[in-house]
Amino acid sequence: GAPVEVNIAKAEPGQMIRVKWRGKPVWVVRRTPEMLKELDGIADRLRDPDSQEPQQPSYAANKYRAIKEEFFVAVGICTHLGCSPTYYQSGMGEHVEGVASGFFCPCHGSKFDIAGRVFQSVPAPLNLVVPPHYYVDDNTILVG
Ligand code: FES
Repeated sequence: GAPVEVNIAKAEPGQMIRVKWRGKPVWVVRRTPEMLKELDGIADRLRDPDSQEPQQPSYAANKYRAIKEEFFVAVGICTHLGCSPTYYQSGMGEHVEGVASGFFCPCHGSKFDIAGRVFQSVPAPLNLVVPPHYYVDDNTILVG
């Protein structure tokens, strides 16, 4: 499949942009400073907090799982059995495992933080997949 260009120039803080890449949903979330703060202090409840699983780009192998902290790029498919998780944004009043932003899979209740890191208490075995991508310029991400 061809790489997909994502224009992030107009992304509002907290906004999720959805595109398709190789037939899969890919999300780009512009994370707020508040959301980034939520990545701290929960490591002991995550399966792989520093994301050391090998099948991912090297820039995903850390707490932020991103090239630039502000933009989280992920394949929007649950690592359990492939349903599509729901995005929870700070301020919506919903909580995922006590954090105000993240992703919740309605099929069997898997929960991920806003870096796609999976909580220990759920069936999904792995963090959400970060697809290969890079910045063409400050306003453009190329996925693939
Ligand atoms: Fe997401 Fe099972 S497919 S929890």
